[in-house]
Amino acid sequence: MNKQDIVNQLITNRSFEPIVAEAIGQAPSNIALVKYWGKRDEQLHLPVNDSLSISLADQGAITRLKLSDCQHDVVYLNHRQMASDHPFCLRLSAYLDLFRYTEGKKTRKKHYFHIDTISRVPVAAGLASSACGFAALIKALDQWFGWQLSINELSILARLGSGSACRSLWHGFVRWRKGHRQDGMDSHGEYVAPIWPSLRVGMLVLSRDSKPISSRIAMKQTVDSPFYRCWAQVASQDLTQLRQAIDQEDFHLLAQTAERNALAMHACMLTALPAVMYALPQTVAAMNKVWQLRHQGLPLFFTQDAGPNLKLLFLDKHCNDVVQEFPELMIINPSTAGKDE
Ligand code: PMV
Repeated sequence: MNKQDIVNQLITNRSFEPIVAEAIGQAPSNIALVKYWGKRDEQLHLPVNDSLSISLADQGAITRLKLSDCQHDVVYLNHRQMASDHPFCLRLSAYLDLFRYTEGKKTRKKHYFHIDTISRVPVAAGLASSACGFAALIKALDQWFGWQLSINELSILARLGSGSACRSLWHGFVRWRKGHRQDGMDSHGEYVAPIWPSLRVGMLVLSRDSKPISSRIAMKQTVDSPFYRCWAQVASQDLTQLRQAIDQEDFHLLAQTAERNALAMHACMLTALPAVMYALPQTVAAMNKVWQLRHQGLPLFFTQDAGPNLKLLFLDKHCNDVVQEFPELMIINPSTAGKDE
């Protein structure tokens, strides 16, 4: 079973002929509070564990899609045309290959795409730019071809681009159930609950450089760590705690679970051979600062993905205190979107 089989299965009896000249897809970025780390199927991005994320309202991607005038894909990212051999374009084109052909009765037409993406999060810096990118793209494709797929089907297709993208189809708290089927048709996002209005996420950008190792390679490498053997169990316990925290609006339990889960994921990476370390000296300094502030009574926590940047978790009433300590922090109120989803 490969990606094309899944696409063919989901798009059966639907056309690969565009019905509009231009389509637009929009999706929020998402930050996992219980992380997806490790695949049971490399090809289809089927995870070892369930994960749970928080969507970041209007921090995400908007993608416009139309037919390319050239015999290749043309990709613009934040108004700048990307070289076709840039890793971002290659990854995008490989994904678009899944949707390129129109099978007529006798003809076989090939589409090349003109993609224009505005990403409000730094690309490849562990701020989930690929998640919102693929989710926005599949929404645009759905509109362009007029498929009218269900949100779960779109989530499955987004997952084929990047695993965590399957959670970016919703606002609010979103769970990705790992599923059990070999074809992954039961492995998609699921809306859990709206985000409490008092919750804040702070993006602490400590480096804008591209990460030295992709999450795909890092995940593969980590699976051999002796610590990885207990990862699925840790993730499952954390998920139960997080569900409880969400239901009871218990900030402390939510943030503490998220921080511990991120550290457990990085502990697995640190004990891989060779070790994977995304933290830079400034990442460790920021972690220590968070711990020190917490020790002094400020309820502040962090989570970290596959990159050196941190996302801080805190409550609205502590915004001023947090900004005083981290003046460069970009603060997001994740509860402000999603009324139309
Ligand atoms: O979706 P990917 O392949 O970029 O992997 C994302 C992995 C983490 O961001 C570290 C965790 C997660 O669940 O988002």
